[in-house]
Amino acid sequence: MRSPILAFQPASSLLMSKLTLLWRDVYSNYPVPLPFTEDELDRFIRMSGICLDLSQIALADDQPVGLSLAGSDGDTAWIGGFGIASLHRRCGIGLAMLRSQTREFDQRGIRNSRLEVITTNRARRLYANSGYVDRRRLHSFNSPAVGNSADPLEVVPLEDLPALHQRLHVGVSAAPWQRELPGVMRAVERDHLTILGWRGPNGIAAYAVEQNRSGLTHLVDAVAECASSAEGLVSSLAARSRGRRISLGDEPSNSPVAKAFKRFGASPRIQRMEMVRLANLPTEVRRVRDYAMA
Ligand SMILES: CC(C)(COP(=O)(O)OP(=O)(O)OC[C@H]1O[C@@H](n2cnc3c(N)ncnc32)[C@H](O)[C@@H]1OP(=O)(O)O)[C@@H](O)C(=O)NCCC(=O)NCCS
Repeated sequence: MRSPILAFQPASSLLMSKLTLLWRDVYSNYPVPLPFTEDELDRFIRMSGICLDLSQIALADDQPVGLSLAGSDGDTAWIGGFGIASLHRRCGIGLAMLRSQTREFDQRGIRNSRLEVITTNRARRLYANSGYVDRRRLHSFNSPAVGNSADPLEVVPLEDLPALHQRLHVGVSAAPWQRELPGVMRAVERDHLTILGWRGPNGIAAYAVEQNRSGLTHLVDAVAECASSAEGLVSSLAARSRGRRISLGDEPSNSPVAKAFKRFGASPRIQRMEMVRLANLPTEVRRVRDYAMA
């Protein structure tokens, strides 16, 4: 049987309705259900800073069979969705599409790109074969809240968020791409979310961006400068949520907030690996490894 003719194009060449069908196809039997409607995919693209001109689709004999959704900010990029339609897997299209995507990054002068992958997903090998190296584990929580501290949380004005984000998201708490400042600001502004701060002796030492969904308190972002401020924040959020579940996605596993969640009885529901790749310059290879180990 002849092999299909493969081609790659910017995802902006596909109508949104067709892009949605392709998204649903590539994620049809994914462990986390992602059956987006067209509106939901559109919202995901806007909220995640995905750029469809930078993103790629794979065509086999002119039929869309693969999707790589990517965004960038200056010389940094991220891949926020990646998959191949089930009937076309295991024939090399995923690796070829990723290489096409990273070529696009390199041509645009993007110096580093990152992505996350469920630790047990075989896609990790594919990413490793394209130059991505493990950086750190990310844990996602979605647990009934426990905690009875009633430390008052105070509402933080939106204009204070950039400085707080920059001060607190450092070291082990460096933000994953979903929680970089522009994305958090977009979510707060669009959904009129409340930023709750926990005050320590020297000012706000932890904050969370709270989004109430039916029966669930979802934290769009949460960060703390140390173990005690993380405990103060998490236990106050738990007391405030009065038995509802609290969810937080992609928290660095060694951060004070992740440790506080675990101390309060929450166990990570999903574990993902953040992987990073520096631009394909031979002199950078050692620095990729240094960055990954930091
Ligand atoms: C992960 C995924 C993108 C891989 O796409 P793919 O097109 O199957 O990838 P490839 O064909 O390039 O490689 C996959 C495997 O097939 C093997 N393969 C490639 N060509 C092959 C061939 N002709 N015959 C047999 N095996 C082949 C590769 O060696 C690789 O093996 P490995 O897993 O042991 O390393 C795809 O399975 C998928 O879309 N999964 C659901 C969505 C998902 O998990 N996305 C990742 C989110 S982070």
